[in-house]
Amino acid sequence: MSSRPLLLTSALPYANGPIHLGHLVENIQSDIYARFNRLLGRDVLYVCAADTHGTPIEVNAKKQGLEPAVMVERYRTEHERDFRDFQVSFDLYSSTNTEENRRWAERIYASLKAGGHVFEKPLEQFYCENDQRFLPDRFVKGICPSCKARDQYGDVCENCNKTYQPIDLEEPYCVLCRNRPVRKESTHLFVKLSGFAPFLREYSSSPALQPEVRNYVTRWIDEGLQDWCISRDGPYFGFEIPDQPGKYFYVWLDAPIGYISAAETEAKARGQELGHWWTGTSEHSDDGEVVHVIGKDIVYFHALFWPAMLHAAGLARPTKVHVHGMLNLGGAKMSKSRGRMITAREWLDALDPAYLRYYLAANLGPSLDDIEFSLDELKNRVNSQLVNNVGNLANRVLSFVKTRFSGRIGALTIEPDTRASLAETCGNALRGFKTLNYRYAVQQIEAMGLWANAYMQSHAPFKTFKTDPDVALADVTLLANVLKALGTMLQPIVPKVAEELFAQINVRPKNWDDGVAFNLERHEIGTPAPLLPPIEAGALEKLFAPKEAAPVAVSAAAEPAAPMAAEMTFDDFMKADLRVGKILAAEAIPKSEKMLRLSVDLGEGTPRTIGAGIANAYRPEDLVGKSVVVVANLAPRTMKIGKTEFVSQGMVLAAGGGARGLSVTEVPADVAPGARVK
Ligand code: MSP
Ligand code: ZN
Repeated sequence: MSSRPLLLTSALPYANGPIHLGHLVENIQSDIYARFNRLLGRDVLYVCAADTHGTPIEVNAKKQGLEPAVMVERYRTEHERDFRDFQVSFDLYSSTNTEENRRWAERIYASLKAGGHVFEKPLEQFYCENDQRFLPDRFVKGICPSCKARDQYGDVCENCNKTYQPIDLEEPYCVLCRNRPVRKESTHLFVKLSGFAPFLREYSSSPALQPEVRNYVTRWIDEGLQDWCISRDGPYFGFEIPDQPGKYFYVWLDAPIGYISAAETEAKARGQELGHWWTGTSEHSDDGEVVHVIGKDIVYFHALFWPAMLHAAGLARPTKVHVHGMLNLGGAKMSKSRGRMITAREWLDALDPAYLRYYLAANLGPSLDDIEFSLDELKNRVNSQLVNNVGNLANRVLSFVKTRFSGRIGALTIEPDTRASLAETCGNALRGFKTLNYRYAVQQIEAMGLWANAYMQSHAPFKTFKTDPDVALADVTLLANVLKALGTMLQPIVPKVAEELFAQINVRPKNWDDGVAFNLERHEIGTPAPLLPPIEAGALEKLFAPKEAAPVAVSAAAEPAAPMAAEMTFDDFMKADLRVGKILAAEAIPKSEKMLRLSVDLGEGTPRTIGAGIANAYRPEDLVGKSVVVVANLAPRTMKIGKTEFVSQGMVLAAGGGARGLSVTEVPADVAPGARVK
């Protein structure tokens, strides 16, 4: 057994949306590895972080009316909670938007430069004059230069799969405002990746990579490595490049560096040197192992760019980059952009996380194969293997010990053959976990569960008890030991279930070896109880059913209307200039429970800032895109709320009452901003 310290990571999820089942494939996989290694008694540091930089995040924050730093921190907190509730045992869930990460990004960039790997080159890109930004890959669409398919992104055609430069698109348009962009040149920084080819060839032939990944990498190197553009123009949310004002590090430069800075933060909190975990990062460096778990969509970054950066900086390369396949739903990758995506929170609101953890473990092998999500398989596997073979067996055995033998098992007698074959099964499971071949480990658990149930059936202690109580006691004593071993093998996969099982047997295995040892005798058990309920019929189907629109509440007894205001003339009415306004952005105001600051397009070219007392009724992000009625010729008014001060240039009409308390008056989306309301 290797006793080198283990630093383990999963890829850093973008802080641009919630955690979904696709992310969980990865984080449950790495969590099982973390728990297994801790169970072996290894020194483990298991970290992850939210990936907070990049154009999509900057654009999304703007849409939500939030500062990017505020938005990413909200998602980071949400991620942290979701992972915790899925029993993912990170020692730290950090962020790439930290000072530690900036320092490491600057340090590694400096090494790249010092090694002569960075050069400048002008780059022509599409630029939207309306949005005043360059349009990277996903922000420009147009006709594929190759197959002429319409509405293709700037990096790859979804019709013919060909990759190209954004600038090659025909009839381009900006995805934000649909205007036609112009071509504009700007100087960028590039890393000469081809200079690393000999090193990468050697690295890729090391056991750090799975054979399939090794083949990818070799092919990429053979095809010739392209220069890598590491800078982006503002507006961008990221770290400004020290010697290049107005330019920022491309998100993929500082994202993997987040592995190091997160490890550093946690190491420091423990009073350790980072070099204990990552060789070369501090003066006194140990020989730590670094293992990254990632999905196959980001292999290029982890098997080429990242080792090259580390190499240039004189830091140890990852000991292992373990790549997994994608979770597919109905044949398509489960993600935000495609099909029905179930979030971690939706699952937690409906079902026990143990069900998903067990199912995924049973489907995770050592290769890059995708997982085709199957509700039937999930339900059958969990209900038959986990709930029945283990849970019901435990309940029958332990309840029997409780009622017939006052809760005490007897002396352990076990045939040498039986002992050897049970030990072999446990040894196989150990190898399965070690090689991240959890499918194999689950097969061992399943086999032992079946064996134990057959034993219970054929030896029938509940019958022999009447005539031969000693034989019955010996049988359940053996089975109690089998249950302890099953609990140990299940512990990395479904920790809460294992914990509960251990409590019922009344044991606390110190480590793996102790847990799978057949050494329990003349021992007082705990209190038996059902271990885990089965997945109810229909529960999964309900969770995965397409969401219907929420039914509109109809209030039975309308509230009495407020008394009418005094009569006015038509001319009085015409003094009010009411216009249709489209809400472009909405943001909460610190220290105000009522007020939101809106940016509203009245068709005047520049949007207006308008304060609206509707914070109790709407989340800012839910207002964006709504068309509302605005009193456009109200005298501007300065609003002062806490430290925030701004001039409100109008008023949004809203009606009181109803479920939300206050509802803005909405106009159908196809009425143009600025249209007069009469
Ligand atoms: N931010 C980058 C990673 C930076 S690592 C220095 C990123 N983020 S992500 O949120 O898009 O994905 C995070 C991880 O989740 C990736 O490893 C990705 O492969 C994995 N998954 C996201 N959707 C997935 C599935 N549907 N199935 C399996 N894993 C998937 O990429
Ligand atoms: Zn635009």
